Amino acid sequence: MAQKFLHSYIVCSCKNVSLSEILFAIKEKNAKNLKDIAFYTDAGSACGSCTCKEKDVGEKKMDLYLSQILDKYNKK
Ligand code: FES
Repeated sequence: MAQKFLHSYIVCSCKNVSLSEILFAIKEKNAKNLKDIAFYTDAGSACGSCTCKEKDVGEKKMDLYLSQILDKYNKK
């Protein structure tokens, strides 16, 4: 994840969930996986395209996936 994203960046367009909401779920609510993220934010609970590259069904592919964000914080 070399590219920098603003905290206002919308990671999940279906549910209009920003990067800052995802980070809050991970850091403050201790979300550890996609199910936790969906529980706290609703992100990834509709089409699923934002969860990972393999599930991205959109014509224009997303720049950032929930799995990438989780990977970064689960490694710490
Ligand atoms: S873009 Fe996140 S569920 Fe569709």
